[in-house]
Amino acid sequence: MANDKPHATGTVAYGDVDRKVGIEVLRQQGINVEELVEKLIDNAAAEFASTYYYYSILRMYLAGHEDYKEICEDARLEDRQHYELILPRIYELGGSLPYSLHEFADRAGCPAAYLPGTDNGAHPPAEEPTAADILTVLLESERCAIRSWLEICQITAGKDPRTYDLASRILNEEIEHEAWFIELLAMERDGKVRPSGHFRRGFPGEAPYSRNRPFSHGGL
Ligand SMILES: [Fe+2]
Ligand SMILES: [Fe+2]
Repeated sequence: MANDKPHATGTVAYGDVDRKVGIEVLRQQGINVEELVEKLIDNAAAEFASTYYYYSILRMYLAGHEDYKEICEDARLEDRQHYELILPRIYELGGSLPYSLHEFADRAGCPAAYLPGTDNGAHPPAEEPTAADILTVLLESERCAIRSWLEICQITAGKDPRTYDLASRILNEEIEHEAWFIELLAMERDGKVRPSGHFRRGFPGEAPYSRNRPFSHGGL
């Protein structure tokens, strides 16, 4: 039995509300908290702006491909969930969203998933983009997301269990998203079978790994 209670005090003074033990312990583990927060904001912006917003448009242009639309919708809503999941962690770590949505979108860590044929969103598509064109954009967006969240996992592994847990839950779904779009694109473009193991979510945007009800709005 511990009689000396070694964790009763530490580097943060008793009653101090300007510093957080939850941050100080990360510094003691060698985490550069400011740098980590900046990367989390970049990733949150990628989820919110590069994918969630632009996937809305991509999904509309999959008209006539109801199966693709449904799967694109799962990926779209799950990316919004990723934004919701990581947002509180940014503030816990002392960070903040930029106070301008424009600034937030501009700093996204992944390229915007523009609708093909729009010159990076400058105008409506000159001609109807094909399903293969759209699936290619979706696939490459998921690949950037995998790289981005893996970096967070690597920075935090063994040092920041909370951020690691959140990032790894997101990463699980990004890896699934890539596999879904490989399956669809391989058949649509090349007539090849590249199974993803996917059937369907229980409901649209289910986010089986990243859903965290206390962070989620409306339960869905
Ligand atoms: Fe995502
Ligand atoms: Fe994704």
